[in-house]
Amino acid sequence: MAKMEVKTSLLDNMIGVGDMVLLEPLNEDTVIDNLKKRFDHSEIYTYIGSVVISVNPYRSLPIYSPEKVEDYRNRNFYELSPHIFALSDEAYRSLRDQDKDQCILITGESGAGKTEASKLVMSYVAAVCGKGAEVNQVKEQLLQSNPVLEAFGNAKTVRNDNSSRFGKYMDIEFDFKGDPLGGVISNYLLEKSRVVKQPRGERNFHVFYQLLSGASEELLNKLKLERDFSRYNYLGLDSAKVNGVDDAANFRTVRNAMQIVGFMDHEAESVLEVVAAVLKLGNIEFKPESRVNGLDESKIKDKNELKEICELTGIDQSVLERAFSFRTVEAKQEKVSTTLNVAQAYYARDALAKNLYSRLFSWLVNRINESIKAQTKVRKKVMGVLDIYGFEIFEDNSFEQFIINYCNEKLQQIFIELTLKEEQEEYIREDIEWTHIEYFNNAIICDLIENNTNGILAMLDEECLRPGTVTDETFLEKLNQVCATHQHFESRMSKCSRFLNDTSLPHSCFRIQHYAGKVLYQVEGFVDKNNDLLYRDLSQAMWKAGHALIKSLFPEGNPAKINLKRPPTAGSQFKASVATLMKNLQTKNPNYIRCIKPNDKKAAHIFNEGLVCHQVRYLGLLENVRVRRAGYAFRQAYEPCLERYKMLCKQTWPHWKGPARAGVEVLFNELEIPVEEYSFGRSKIFIRNPRTLFKLEDLRKQRLEDLATLIQKIYRGWKCRTHFLLMRKSQIVIAAWFRRYAQQKRYQQIKSSALVIQSYIRGWKARKILRELKHQKRCEEAVTTIAAYWHGTQVRREYRKFFRANAGKKIYEFTLQRIVQKYFLEMKSKVPSLSPIDKNWPSRPYLFLDSTHKELKRIFHLWRCKKYRDQFTDQQKLIYEEKLEASELFKDKKALYPSSVGQPFQGPYLEINKNPKYKKLKDAIEEKIIIAEVVNKINRANGKSTSRIFLLTNNNLLLADQKSGQIKSEVPLVDVTKVSMSSQNDGFFAIHLKEGCEAASKGDFLFSSDHLIEMATKLYRTTLSQTKQKLNIEISDEFLVQFRQDKVCVKFIQGNQKNGSVPTCKRKNNRLLEVAVP
Ligand SMILES: Nc1ncnc2c1ncn2[C@@H]1O[C@H](COP(=O)(O)OP(=O)(O)OP(=O)(O)O)[C@@H](O)[C@H]1O
Ligand SMILES: [Mg+2]
Repeated sequence: MAKMEVKTSLLDNMIGVGDMVLLEPLNEDTVIDNLKKRFDHSEIYTYIGSVVISVNPYRSLPIYSPEKVEDYRNRNFYELSPHIFALSDEAYRSLRDQDKDQCILITGESGAGKTEASKLVMSYVAAVCGKGAEVNQVKEQLLQSNPVLEAFGNAKTVRNDNSSRFGKYMDIEFDFKGDPLGGVISNYLLEKSRVVKQPRGERNFHVFYQLLSGASEELLNKLKLERDFSRYNYLGLDSAKVNGVDDAANFRTVRNAMQIVGFMDHEAESVLEVVAAVLKLGNIEFKPESRVNGLDESKIKDKNELKEICELTGIDQSVLERAFSFRTVEAKQEKVSTTLNVAQAYYARDALAKNLYSRLFSWLVNRINESIKAQTKVRKKVMGVLDIYGFEIFEDNSFEQFIINYCNEKLQQIFIELTLKEEQEEYIREDIEWTHIEYFNNAIICDLIENNTNGILAMLDEECLRPGTVTDETFLEKLNQVCATHQHFESRMSKCSRFLNDTSLPHSCFRIQHYAGKVLYQVEGFVDKNNDLLYRDLSQAMWKAGHALIKSLFPEGNPAKINLKRPPTAGSQFKASVATLMKNLQTKNPNYIRCIKPNDKKAAHIFNEGLVCHQVRYLGLLENVRVRRAGYAFRQAYEPCLERYKMLCKQTWPHWKGPARAGVEVLFNELEIPVEEYSFGRSKIFIRNPRTLFKLEDLRKQRLEDLATLIQKIYRGWKCRTHFLLMRKSQIVIAAWFRRYAQQKRYQQIKSSALVIQSYIRGWKARKILRELKHQKRCEEAVTTIAAYWHGTQVRREYRKFFRANAGKKIYEFTLQRIVQKYFLEMKSKVPSLSPIDKNWPSRPYLFLDSTHKELKRIFHLWRCKKYRDQFTDQQKLIYEEKLEASELFKDKKALYPSSVGQPFQGPYLEINKNPKYKKLKDAIEEKIIIAEVVNKINRANGKSTSRIFLLTNNNLLLADQKSGQIKSEVPLVDVTKVSMSSQNDGFFAIHLKEGCEAASKGDFLFSSDHLIEMATKLYRTTLSQTKQKLNIEISDEFLVQFRQDKVCVKFIQGNQKNGSVPTCKRKNNRLLEVAVP
């Protein structure tokens, strides 16, 4: 999603005022109050128009993150709260898009944050400009040049733990697209005196401490150094350690940075060797040695250090030793050599150390320039960043402070010039009437210092070049003469003491009323420092060094190039370079960052109003605001102005169709802002009083709240409506789909039902037709068949008589008839007798009549028997019935039976009626006697038999004595259960009685009779007719008979013939009665 552009303004959520032109009322107090208020809220940046004021927070603030970079990127200057990034962005875009070279001038006193600001600007530009491997390398080299230069050019001072002791101007070069190509660094006047001496509470340059702390033992040995700071005279001891600074880690950072910037390993080593040599130089000490001619001569106390230095630098020890003892002056082919006293020797030593170090520093800058210089010759766009040492007022101010403050004076001047010029130009550009403003112009002070004829620097040079004895005092005298009347110059001897408050101005001093305050300079050392003299013997000794770097640092030591002309003085050199710088700056579009130091303690959260007030004054901030506000406090292009306030008027809200300017006019008329309060420029509206702006802001705020409510209302309505519409639409879609689906479903159902019905009907119709057709066909077929049969029948009927096939059958039948006829006729004559027992039957004449013949025989036999039977009387019938019964009971069962067949059953063999012996017996029996016969009753004890009369009546069985006729026993027929007999040809039989009946008390009866078959048959028949029960007749060769209590087995065996043909009975043992049958 594209990032939404939110139109914001500097005026949103302001703490105090973000732009001091809006201060009301405007005076020093309100300015300081505003700064304090903002500082207390961690708002360290404040604008005066396009100038950024930065108050050092002395703590890290979360306002430099990559997100912040993104926030400020491509945004208008006044769109967001004041920030150094806004200025950087403005400068970069103006450079890239409008092709205007830029310079960023960072001023402020020592410790105010200039160096930090310059780094922030550089890092911002690095972050927003083009990307790519090559571009990134350039960026990295540009950024990494800082740690290197800071290590060699910065030192801890009482004001700043990382004070820049040189001025630095860096041109960053870009191509037409705004990608960095490279850069050029110019350095201004390193404070080299620091190398040999540091004020109390200060340190030498960082690099010395970093080297001793961070170098490996091996490197230290190689450089012949010891880690202990106290071993070196040049290292001030009282503040060798700086709180929160890790020198060892910084050493690694610096070496790494050197590598990135492009230093070769041997170059970096050479540099450290020079640093080591400088350190060791400080340890060379001299002692006086009287000479004959009375002149003092110095001698090196301990030559060991000297020896080591010579080893390090490859200088002949004797050459260097001599250079510390003699001074050779050459004039017009004459060489005059004078000895140096101890003081001169020390001077020479220190001069050498200072020169060695400062030249090394310049060499470093050049070396870095070589690395970072743009590789192309195409036209470049340039952004210059100036980080110069700030205005300084110390207790003892010397030549260096004079130079530094002069430089600041020049910067202030260019600031005033450019600001005013720009302001004026804007008024002209915008066609607004210009009102003159009173402001302090420091050109007069610059003139005091740099005037070519009677400026202080010119005077100093004159003194230095003048033959004869020249001292600092003579220089001061000269000043007193020449500058005495200058308003900004004071000295004890000057006649002008208008600014003098205390009369105790020291003797060897002069005071200059700088734009930023009065500074008292000690004149001592001015001449020397300006001369910056290094004895030729020393430079020649250096040139002779085997160390390539050192040799290159002292080109004037080359005897072949002896230049008798004096080198330009330090002052004039500086003046020239400042002049070049100023010229350079004037060609560029200036951007100002004015740094303010809130306290002297390097502490966060402390805002020392006195200190700030002083800075506000000398930075001329108030004047700056006044200039900016001359006539009109606030200005803004028409478009953003209309954009910001359009909601205050109906015609311009929400959209204005015409040009922005007309819109603003309408808006201001509508709001009834007094006409004298504003002016219309070409592209900007100018507002006279901040009050008016604040009134606009208040109205806007009020209106915004109303609008927010309105927007909220409309949005809510819109949201609900959209939601409703969506729901409705969705519902319609769903309903449509559902209906479609339902209809489809119904249609399909109807369709399939129709199909089913259709198919049934069709099937039904088809089947009906089929049935009809089949019926019709069958009818036709039947008719045909019937007709065919009918015709057939008719025809056959008609023609049967003519069939030959029928003849055979007819003949056959006829023949058969004849044969049967003949058979029956013959049988008539051959019929046997009518005796049923006649077995004769004529033989069969024809085989096919076999069954007929047999049947005929059977029918004839049956008929004969019937005829025979029909002759029987009832008496005979009964006898035959009995015979038939006997046959059924015994035929093929008992061997005795066949012999009985021929004997007629007589029944009462014994004629009781006729025998008087039996009269009594006859009287006792009332019933009809069926059997009366004499039987042998077998004695069960011994098998012997006794005769008894056996009588069977309709209901009883009677036994009587044969002789007396007395009844021995009487058994009712119902008590007879069974009759047992053998299968053999004997007449024994047993009558078994029902157990427990009266007659059974003596047990069963065992008899033998000649008429066994008849008796058994009649007993059976009588019992059946009387009791309706079939008497059980058991035929077995072994059966049990009950005698009293015992059971005796009657067993029939095949007997031998010797007893005759009568069966004998014998009692074998208790249980067995054996009957032997012959
Ligand atoms: N924007 C900042 N945020 C946090 N700390 C800062 C900021 N600016 C400066 N400081 C702190 O203040 C110290 C001094 O700042 P800096 O070295 O930039 O001062 P200077 O103006 O360059 O001084 P000099 O003129 O002595 O070189 C820094 O070391 C840092 O601790
Ligand atoms: Mg600095």
